[in-house]
Amino acid sequence: MKKTLLILFTGLIFLGCLALLAGFSAKEKDEKIMTNKKILVSYFSATGTTKNVAQKLALVTGADLFEIKPLKPYTNADLDWRDEQSRSSLEMKDSTSRPQIASKIEDISKYDIVFVGFPIWWYREPSIIDTFIESYDFSNKIIIPFATSGTSLMGDSAQNIQKLAPNAKVFEGKRFPSNVSEEVLKDWAFEQF
Ligand SMILES: Cc1cc2nc3c(=O)[nH]c(=O)nc-3n(C[C@H](O)[C@H](O)[C@H](O)COP(=O)(O)O)c2cc1C
Repeated sequence: MKKTLLILFTGLIFLGCLALLAGFSAKEKDEKIMTNKKILVSYFSATGTTKNVAQKLALVTGADLFEIKPLKPYTNADLDWRDEQSRSSLEMKDSTSRPQIASKIEDISKYDIVFVGFPIWWYREPSIIDTFIESYDFSNKIIIPFATSGTSLMGDSAQNIQKLAPNAKVFEGKRFPSNVSEEVLKDWAFEQF
């Protein structure tokens, strides 16, 4: 009886180890599939929070990094959301506003996947993100939005971006807290595929 139990127990441990190994190699395979894709992490950040998340995301995905820099930088007064006449308030009230961007991506055609990061402004993507999306041909590419915010989630950001890039596949994306870890970002990024 004792011997049977011992054999059973050893068998179970062996099977457990096999399952664990299979799990590891599946994850490794997933990561390989993703690394075969050419990835760009693009971002706009007015006060550095999204920049920090974007840098971590680029690091863990092995992506190129591109900052969506406004031609005219936002001052503190521009960012005052309590002031109805501030630049950001005026831009966000006007769905056709397209703030200019200072630099261009040299060759967007080489990327398969483009992460687009931004701070949530008035429950959605800032207008400069709309400028960015309209500036390139995203046909047949995957766009994955990500954001930081006080508390708001993504709102209609993904749907808005999809309308501006109808031939891209735009994922729902995710809002992250400012102190999100590299581990969490990596797991999320690899889950997308
Ligand atoms: C004009 C403006 C509007 C904002 N609107 C929202 C909002 O609707 N919901 C929210 O949770 N946070 C809002 N925030 C806070 C930012 O999303 C948050 O501070 C973000 O992490 C800043 O990112 P950044 O440092 O990359 O610019 C707003 C900030 C600004 C300047």
